Amino acid sequence: MTSPTTVALGAERQLLIGGEWCRSESGRTFETLNPATGDVIAEVAEATEEDVDRAVTSAREAFRSREWSRMSGRDRGKLLHRIADLLEQEADSLARLETRDSGKPYREARRIDIEGSIDCFRYYAGWADKIEGEVLPVSGPYLTYTRREPIGVCAGIIPWNFPLQMAAWKVAPALACGSTMMLKPAEQTPLTALELGRIALEAGVPAGVLNVLPGFGETTGAALVRHPGVDKIAFTGSTAVGMEIQRAAADTLKRVTLELGGKSPNLVLADADLSAAVKGASAAIFYNSGQVCTAGSRLLVDRRVHDEFLERLVDRARRMVPGDPLDSATRMGPLISQEQLDRVLGYVESGRSEGAKLVTGGDRPDNLRSGYFINPTIFDEVGPDMTIAREEIFGPVLAVIPFEDEEEAIEVANSSIYGLAAAVWTRDVSKAHRIAHALEAGTVWINAYYGVDPGSPFGGYKQSGYGRELGRYALDLYTQVKTIWIGLR
Ligand code: NAI
Ligand code: MG
Repeated sequence: MTSPTTVALGAERQLLIGGEWCRSESGRTFETLNPATGDVIAEVAEATEEDVDRAVTSAREAFRSREWSRMSGRDRGKLLHRIADLLEQEADSLARLETRDSGKPYREARRIDIEGSIDCFRYYAGWADKIEGEVLPVSGPYLTYTRREPIGVCAGIIPWNFPLQMAAWKVAPALACGSTMMLKPAEQTPLTALELGRIALEAGVPAGVLNVLPGFGETTGAALVRHPGVDKIAFTGSTAVGMEIQRAAADTLKRVTLELGGKSPNLVLADADLSAAVKGASAAIFYNSGQVCTAGSRLLVDRRVHDEFLERLVDRARRMVPGDPLDSATRMGPLISQEQLDRVLGYVESGRSEGAKLVTGGDRPDNLRSGYFINPTIFDEVGPDMTIAREEIFGPVLAVIPFEDEEEAIEVANSSIYGLAAAVWTRDVSKAHRIAHALEAGTVWINAYYGVDPGSPFGGYKQSGYGRELGRYALDLYTQVKTIWIGLR
């Protein structure tokens, strides 16, 4: 089995441009850390404006090359299957690398991140030869049809919470459609994206079709957004940066799709299966240490079951002890960085000072002082206007908001600038659907939380962004429609 660390950790990890590994033209590098210990695990070349420019040139050449532009959909599909095969062969070591770079528990990295990435490549491998146009009924003596052509040179700018999976969600559909992709991983977690670059080369993806450009947002990311040679930006990250990207992209009228933040409401009705709802509510906020865009960070619970529900949830949270993410028994790892820890602790402070009732957590585990750990945290009696009920915290901090009736629950649930996801727990089938229809969110789960699959579209309402990744919807993000008219006279 090849190790994913063929470029040894410790040695400088280079940029992938035009099928070659290279240093930054500036010679600049940055360090990536293990969030469980704070130790530096690798030094990584930082792509600067000049590197971005070279990458765009190579991606454009690759896009126009006969090799890529004439490749059949079936052959692009085979390439994507080969990438999936290689990811599968290296799944264990990729999961370990993801765990070291991001701090997420190994078990989850393996089962969710790596498996999810493999599934995503296989799913879009299946689409590559099914991207069809239409014949249109028009008046007059014409034959009129459409072609779905690749959009061109794309850039994927991704976050650190699901590094390889976010890469897969962008690279797989882009390549299936015949576009080319420049991938900028988050500065906190560049390592598995570089491995994906290596694997794509090994799978036979032509040089320049996938470039990998680690670096920071304000430099590498902004250079991609500004560059006139980039046709499309696919971004996942904070709403603030999404807004900045949309503004900056206006100058060149790039296509932009945005997957942004959330403050997703999780509604527990009095007639719910409370055991299932407790488990769901706990996973909704504590999975990945709450660093999930769809985290169920607002728990709306019916007053009539509130006390019992909260007692069971707190009990579960207290048993969720953070620990070494490489230990297969660990269910909760650290936050990604000192900066993120400080942010989350700041929100805990704001919850306290605005009068919410801290019922568990809010502090750091005594035995884990070197990493960025925080205990599972629950605030009760949170008012919908408090900061911790409005802003995305991106940590294991739950705001519990009791409600009196269905109408109030829906109103509070929708009183957010965000609209990424929502969930409702009830045994009443009609009520479940009625509420699901009323919730302003791109995804609604009923008696479940965190369902996600490459075949099912994913994206936001309101300030959670626009565009739908996954499913056949993602094909729209990486293609454009050409209409062709043929005179029949
Ligand atoms: P961020 O939005 O700054 O980072 C996401 C990606 O965007 C990274 O690759 C970053 O390098 C890049 N980026 C940053 N500024 C850019 C710019 N001006 N132009 C182009 N690219 C740029 O998120 P950050 O700072 O890591 O986390 C801060 C908060 O953002 C978190 O606490 C969380 O609330 C939210 N966030 C939400 C995510 C989501 O999936 N909804 C993911 C990551 C962060
Ligand atoms: Mg790291």
